[in-house]
Amino acid sequence: MDFETLKNQAKKELAGLKTSGVLESWRVKYLGRNSELALFLRSLSKKSLEEKRQLGPKANQLRQFLEGAFQQKSLSLVDSQSPATDFDLTLPGRVQEPGHLHPLTLANREILKIFSSMGFDIMTGPEIEGDYYNFSALNIPDWHPARETMDTMWLSEKDLPRLKKDVKTASGYEYKKGNKFLLRTHTSPIQVRYMQTHKPPFRMVVGEGRIFRNEATDARHEFQVNQLEGLMIGKDVSMATLHFVVREFFRKFFGSKEIQMRLSPSFYPFVEPGADVSVSCIGCFGKNKDCRLCGGLGWLEVAGSGMVHPNVLRSVGIDPRKWQGFAFGFGIDRLSMIKFNIKEIRLFMSGDLKFIKQF
Ligand code: DAH
Repeated sequence: MDFETLKNQAKKELAGLKTSGVLESWRVKYLGRNSELALFLRSLSKKSLEEKRQLGPKANQLRQFLEGAFQQKSLSLVDSQSPATDFDLTLPGRVQEPGHLHPLTLANREILKIFSSMGFDIMTGPEIEGDYYNFSALNIPDWHPARETMDTMWLSEKDLPRLKKDVKTASGYEYKKGNKFLLRTHTSPIQVRYMQTHKPPFRMVVGEGRIFRNEATDARHEFQVNQLEGLMIGKDVSMATLHFVVREFFRKFFGSKEIQMRLSPSFYPFVEPGADVSVSCIGCFGKNKDCRLCGGLGWLEVAGSGMVHPNVLRSVGIDPRKWQGFAFGFGIDRLSMIKFNIKEIRLFMSGDLKFIKQF
């Protein structure tokens, strides 16, 4: 075997290599298990002592040389592939799209600003409620059929057993002894929580009103929506005050839009009298009897409301002979549909960027 020729050939080839991929083939060829050198070294054992003494050191020297050259080359390839030399300043940059707020968040913030400016407190409550707050304290006792109308998602008693005594949680929310737990079906329980901790006169709205119902969905219905609860109690707060506050709210929230408002009698166990608030349908303005949005009625119901029932006031220790007031519960999703001209409620939770990016 001619060590010199092999060495020169390897050196020459190595000098011309440009990438680590071809460097690896070079290593296999000159230093791999089946390289000429490796085969030679393996065959040495069969040679005579004299030959071993003469050729062994030479072969080892060659191997050390080749290994050293390989190390050096691989280091220089790493250097030359550093990003600095590969960086192409003429390529366009990667666009980082800044996020923005969801239309429901935008609407919610604006609503709270409007009610703050009218002197309303902003209150929140737990999404997991006890049935005392969600129903009983709101004049819906155990046996009342109104419980059935709420399509409630109950939590299993295995996971959250009924309470043996009243408790106050770390987050400051109270639950009553004997409570069964559920995902709140409306934000009205927060009226009760607020009245337990405040003395009239007062006015408040609920800030983050996510609610849950086991409903089939369509263009107007979702199983998880957002509510705007409101409550105002004083000596002489009346339905006329309710009408004024809601109209004022609409004026500010819808701006210049030509929206008409209507109050119509309705039943909710926690108010007496009760009324629904509707606004003119943005889908058809009453002109299409097949309208998907209003079902041909020309009106979209956006809230329930009414004068707080004396039983509700009594349940929180407020004397209904001295105090009276109104409450309302708006669907924020519906209000947003009208404000932004959206004709399908399910788009809000669809996660569809084509929709979301328009706001
Ligand atoms: N909680 C009712 C619902 O979700 C809406 C409602 C009606 C709220 C009348 C009120 C009210 O405060 O007075 O269906």
